[in-house]
Amino acid sequence: MNGPLTGMNLTLQACRNLVRAPAIHRLFDAFESDLSALAQLLEELKSLNRRETYRLKPIDLGAELAALVEEPHKHPSIFTIKFERAETPLIVAGEVARLRRVWQNLLTNVREATTTATQLQIRVRKSGNMARITFKDNAGGITKQRLTRLFEPFFTTKGGKNRGLGLFIARKIITEHNGKIRIASRKPFTRVTIELPLIV
Ligand SMILES: Nc1ncnc2c1ncn2[C@@H]1O[C@H](COP(=O)(O)OP(=O)(O)OP(=O)(O)O)[C@@H](O)[C@H]1O
Ligand SMILES: [Mg+2]
Repeated sequence: MNGPLTGMNLTLQACRNLVRAPAIHRLFDAFESDLSALAQLLEELKSLNRRETYRLKPIDLGAELAALVEEPHKHPSIFTIKFERAETPLIVAGEVARLRRVWQNLLTNVREATTTATQLQIRVRKSGNMARITFKDNAGGITKQRLTRLFEPFFTTKGGKNRGLGLFIARKIITEHNGKIRIASRKPFTRVTIELPLIV
């Protein structure tokens, strides 16, 4: 797709040189700005498709999420968080910065769905040879129709500055950790479940 884009830019420049009318140049400007938006989108898409290299370290998920809940600057105070964790350490191999991006994307979604008196329940438990993390909120829930599309890139119901990439990126990171993520909803609840393989 880079080839045709470059071609269109060159043709546009050639047209600019042929025509003098300012009104036409304003149309060329609009065309050029759309072309550059398209080029930017293409770059973004390419980066989303790339498989990242990970520097894995053992992470105790209970401690990691407890720290997230305890650090108030890391989550908005417009909803309350209830936290439960397994008593034993739940160790997974992960890259902490990327996993934090997952938690942040989920917290942001809860914040953006929040109306009043929203509560988020975060649980970390053991399930067989997996660590299971659940984020359950009561911010309104998601319709059946939308549920099937949540992980699609650019699927958003918000518009504005939201790109519809939060859950797509979350799933990419979790799958690259050999884990799974799923979302279920029954009004007014939304439950995100993440499973990551335990290493001990
Ligand atoms: N906790 C939630 N409660 C209600 N709806 C949700 C929740 N989480 C996600 N959604 C719905 O899923 C859609 C996709 O979420 P996603 O995080 O991928 O994109 P976004 O939040 O719209 O945009 P971005 O994350 O790129 O800012 C949202 O637009 C919203 O409709
Ligand atoms: Mg989001």
